[in-house]
Amino acid sequence: MAALSHVHRFEPGGDVVATPLLLLHGTGGDETDLLPLGRHVAPDAPLISPRGAVLEGAMPRFFRRLGEGVFDEADLRRRANDLADFVAQARKAYGIAEPVALGYSNGANIAAAMMLLRPETLKGAILMRAMAPFVTPPKAELGGVPVLILSGLDDPIVPASSVERLVSSLESSGARVEREALIASHGLTKTDLVRARAFYDKHFGARG
Ligand code: MLT
Repeated sequence: MAALSHVHRFEPGGDVVATPLLLLHGTGGDETDLLPLGRHVAPDAPLISPRGAVLEGAMPRFFRRLGEGVFDEADLRRRANDLADFVAQARKAYGIAEPVALGYSNGANIAAAMMLLRPETLKGAILMRAMAPFVTPPKAELGGVPVLILSGLDDPIVPASSVERLVSSLESSGARVEREALIASHGLTKTDLVRARAFYDKHFGARG
């Protein structure tokens, strides 16, 4: 098999027809980070987990930033397109269906960007501690795609105004957004796990 564009892990899971999860780690993480979370959210589904292709010092990320919360949008566009191409390659290589993104922080931000730039890539998304990726978001045709946004009320990195902008850009592109602000900071909590699993079950599980 030809090498895919991103270093990644693929775990087939016990049910080949279950909706796969695309796991997208935060800054400084790698392709192994979210595997346990993915397995919790979708116990039998294929998991595909790429490593961000950019390095900030020694820390992998999915796109460059100019400062905390200030994104290099030209790089973001390029990397979001590269990631969408990776997903297409991985689907072919592993014979898997359109995935749902499960992204944390920087990984959630590129998932949101990819939805707006390449709406055909994802069947849905669970975005944990995400912010608006673009100052002026592109308009996409998201046709009712389910999105869960889990933010932290005490998150020092993600301002509530940025979450609002993200919600409105996804909704005005036709996504069905569920949003919950948790009693949490930037780190994940047990409630994130519970909400993410319930959302996946509701929309994509055997009963979804
Ligand atoms: C980002 O750069 O994507 C966000 O600021 C979150 C982070 O990675 O710290």
